[in-house]
Amino acid sequence: MPAAEGGVDARISERVRGLGSGVFARNDARKQAYAAAAAGTGLPPLLDLSLGSTDLQPPAVAMEAIRRQLGQPQSAAYCLHGATRPFREAVAAWAQRRFDVTVDPDREVLLLVGSQEGTAHLPLAVLNPGDRALLLDPYYPSHRGGLQLASAQPHLLPLKAARGFAPDFDQLSASQWDSLKLMVLGFPHNPTATTGQQAWVDAAAERAVRHGLVFAHDNPYVDLALDGEAPALLRSPHWRQCGLEFFSFSKGWCLGGYRLAFAIGAEPLITALRQLKGVVDFNQSLALQAGAIAALEQAPEWPERLRPIYRERRDRMASALMAAGWPVRIPSMALYLWLELPPAARAAGLDAEGFCARLLEATGVCLTPGNGFGEGGEGHVRLALVHPIEELEQAAGRVGQWLAGL
Ligand SMILES: Cc1ncc(COP(=O)(O)O)c(C=O)c1O
Repeated sequence: MPAAEGGVDARISERVRGLGSGVFARNDARKQAYAAAAAGTGLPPLLDLSLGSTDLQPPAVAMEAIRRQLGQPQSAAYCLHGATRPFREAVAAWAQRRFDVTVDPDREVLLLVGSQEGTAHLPLAVLNPGDRALLLDPYYPSHRGGLQLASAQPHLLPLKAARGFAPDFDQLSASQWDSLKLMVLGFPHNPTATTGQQAWVDAAAERAVRHGLVFAHDNPYVDLALDGEAPALLRSPHWRQCGLEFFSFSKGWCLGGYRLAFAIGAEPLITALRQLKGVVDFNQSLALQAGAIAALEQAPEWPERLRPIYRERRDRMASALMAAGWPVRIPSMALYLWLELPPAARAAGLDAEGFCARLLEATGVCLTPGNGFGEGGEGHVRLALVHPIEELEQAAGRVGQWLAGL
C-alpha cells in the first residue's frame, strides 16, 4: 500500500476546497463567539441581521395542512417523483393564475428541496467540466458554488449602482456569448435588493436563444417587489426554447426551514435536473408538500400581505440609518438593504469584512459582508429586515453611536 501523503484533510477534493464560503464561515464564527461572550454579561444581546431568514410567520392553512398529513403513514415513506403529481398540478394552476402561462405538470414542473438546492445542482445537469457560465456579480452564493461543484468556469457580469444594477449584456462580445453554456440571473436580485425589469429578462432570454445557452432564472422574490412589477422568465416569449425558472416558498410564504421550492421550465432541462436529483435525494415528505399545496391554493395572497410590513421596515430603517449618518439607497424589493460602507468606515480604511467584524464586536449587530456575494460586493454590506421594527431601530441606534465615535 503506498504511504499516505498528508492527513485525512489532504483527501478533500479540489472541488470542495474551491468553494468560496470563507467570508460567511468567518462571519458566522464571529457571531457565535459574540453570542457566547454576551450571554450573562453586560454586553448588548446579538441582533442578527445577516440572514434572509424571516421572523414573519407562514399562513396557518399551510401549517394546518402539514399537521394533518404528518400522521398519515405515507408521509413517512420515500416519495417518488410520481407521487409529487398533486404538488405539480397545484404549481401548474398557480403559474396559470400568476402569469397566465399554461405549463405541463408532468413535463415542465419539478419539486425542489429549496431554490438553493435547485440552482446548485443545475450546473451538474447541464454543464461539462470546463464549460463557461455567466453569473451576475454580486451573485447568490449557490450560483457560484454550483459551478464550482460542476468544475465549470464563471464569467462575471458586474452590476453597477450607477446603472441602477441593470446588467449590461453588450459587455460581452458575440464570441464570448457563444463560448457560454449557461447563464444564471435572478431579478428581483439578492443582494442588491433591486426588483429589475421584464425587459432585462427578455433581453437575456433572447441572447440565450441566439447563442444557444441555458438560461436559469432564480426567482424566489417574485412576489416581494416593493416598487415595480417583478420580472419573470415565464413571461418571456422564449422561455421554452432556453430556460427554466426557480421559485420558492421560503420568502413569500415564510417556509424557509421546510425547504420547499420548484422549477418550471423547458422539458429537457426539467428532465435533466430530475435525473440528476434522482441520484442525490428523494422528494420532500408528502406532509410538507401538503403545506405547499395549501399555500398556493388557499393563501396565494400571503406574499402580498408581507409587502407592507417589509415596506415599513425598509422605510423606518432607512430613515434611522440616514439620521445616523449612513446614506441609504432605498431598495425596490423587500427583505434587504444593500449598503455602501458608511463614509466614516471608508475613511478608517475598513473593507466590508473588517467593518462587519468591528461593528459586531462593538455593538452586537451582525451584518453580511458584501464580498461574500462576489468581488463586486466588496465595499458593501447587506442588512436583512428580518426583525420587528423596534429591534431594527435599536440596531440603527447602536450602529449610529458607534459610527459617531469611529
Ligand atoms: C437568490 C436566492 N436564491 C435562492 C435562495 C434560497 O432559497 P431557498 O430557501 O428556496 O433555497 C435565496 C435565499 O436567500 C436567494 O436569495
